[in-house]
Amino acid sequence: MKIFLDTADFNEIEQVKHVIDGLTTNPSLMNKAVESLRGKGENINLEDYIRKILKAVKGPVSLEVNSAKYEAIVEEAKLLYDKYNKVNRNVVIKIPVSTFTGEDSVTQFESLMAIRKLKGKIPTNATLVMSVSQAVLAAKAGATYISPFVGRIDDSLKKKIGIPPDRDGYLDAELLEDIAEELVEKSINHKTTSIGSVYSVAERKHNKFHDDGIYSGVDLTEKIISVYDNYGFKTKIIAASIRNKRQVEELAVAGVDIVTVPFSVLLEMEAHYKTKEGVKKFREDAKGLKY
Ligand code: E4P
Repeated sequence: MKIFLDTADFNEIEQVKHVIDGLTTNPSLMNKAVESLRGKGENINLEDYIRKILKAVKGPVSLEVNSAKYEAIVEEAKLLYDKYNKVNRNVVIKIPVSTFTGEDSVTQFESLMAIRKLKGKIPTNATLVMSVSQAVLAAKAGATYISPFVGRIDDSLKKKIGIPPDRDGYLDAELLEDIAEELVEKSINHKTTSIGSVYSVAERKHNKFHDDGIYSGVDLTEKIISVYDNYGFKTKIIAASIRNKRQVEELAVAGVDIVTVPFSVLLEMEAHYKTKEGVKKFREDAKGLKY
């Protein structure tokens, strides 16, 4: 499994550049990093800043397009790639799997067509993947990578179920399925008159616990891994929007290709309270020793 860092903060990159295998950025992360530096009075030139990041990272770096229409995405992807790939030969162009919102002239499939157009010329990362269907479509379009958004799926499920929105808390899909089953069993004991009405009651209760059969962001990613295995898709999976180390560990067990983690999760991954305890004891016991 490869580990990418999910940040545009150069200080964070500097601290762990020898531990990570690549980097992912997005417009929000880029904006946050640049604004924070400008806030500290630094005079930031965005193009130079991006070049500095590319030079520091050994491994693929995703840079996201802001365009939404097919031709504009292709043009922006080429522009970014031509401008920045020469710096360290590690640029990947990140494109939302769908740029359709229904609120403007952008139509469905514009970004998938762009990914197909760039196939074999420029490596792409289809981002904002929230379903198995989108993962399949992106692979068929020829995306080099896809990024399922683990944490944001958890956020929306927590909201739907009514679990308090603890941003970094792990959402346990198995526990959810157990609770849902229990509720369904109870509903079967209701005084209902037909199998049809028992089914409707049970379905209504059960539906609350998943999003079209997806019980968590980790569950979504596990299902994408299975589907890609079924059909031998070559697209690599970057589990993104990671909120805690337990998600990383579950995804590693599931065999995900890559996880991209914020700096805070990388810190969490490196430390353990029993390791701290052990180190303190060894230091104490070593005081009188000279090897
Ligand atoms: C993915 O590549 C994105 O940059 C990122 O993981 C989004 O994470 P968030 O949901 O914490 O914003």
